[in-house]
Amino acid sequence: MPRRYTATARGLHWLTVLLVLALVGLGTWITAFEPKEEAFKYRLYNLHESLGFTLLLLTLLRLAWRAAHPPPPLPQDLPRPLHHVAHGTHAALYLLLLVQPVAGFLATNAWGFPFKWWGLVAIPSPIGKDEALAPLLSAVHFWAALLLVALVALHAGAALWHHFVRRDDTLRKML
Ligand code: HEM
Ligand code: HEM
Repeated sequence: MPRRYTATARGLHWLTVLLVLALVGLGTWITAFEPKEEAFKYRLYNLHESLGFTLLLLTLLRLAWRAAHPPPPLPQDLPRPLHHVAHGTHAALYLLLLVQPVAGFLATNAWGFPFKWWGLVAIPSPIGKDEALAPLLSAVHFWAALLLVALVALHAGAALWHHFVRRDDTLRKML
């Protein structure tokens, strides 16, 4: 059994952290403090959408890598119920890293804005403009973002608890 995540898994984990921080910041900016200048606003939207789509691709890559390189085990002396909490949180984080960009992508199309990745690559969508569906997809995107932030807080808190309170190797496996 490996004692640490592979360098690729660690790199993808911390790149994900950076991207999620940037995406939540940009997402909040474009909705809560919507810039007045149209061209600038659309550039910010495209930046948010392109980073989000990049994260979707990285998450797929990460899951494929994980299937070929199983992660190191949890501490053996950790109580059983906490094994379930840890695995459940990781699964939920992966699910949200997939649902969130897909909902954002579909919402963008439903509002009537075909998405071009980095303004260059047109990504075909299964749906076109749909005014009934658009607010629903945006609501999914909003609530999934809140859930993601809450789970990340729980997850990061748990990592610090392992390191500073329990003093086990959990955090070091990811460094
Ligand atoms: C994991 C990736 C993503 C995260 C964490 C994220 C996060 C956010 C957050 C926090 C907001 C502001 C909250 C709101 O009012 O909805 C937002 C808004 C938005 N995001 Fe994302 N986003 C991601 C991916 C994407 C992708 C891939 C697209 C489109 C291709 C996208 C399109 C949008 C749009 C259009 C808005 C404006 C509000 C709306 O119409 O829903 N997002 N995002
Ligand atoms: C956007 C923020 C974050 C996301 C989306 C995220 C996501 C994940 C996911 C999905 C895993 C499971 C990896 C696997 O087994 O395949 C994981 C593991 C881990 N993360 Fe995070 N993480 C985030 C932030 C953090 C932060 C801030 C810390 C440290 C304070 C942290 C520390 C760890 C550690 C130590 C593990 C290994 C846990 C174990 O296997 O026992 N993560 N993370």
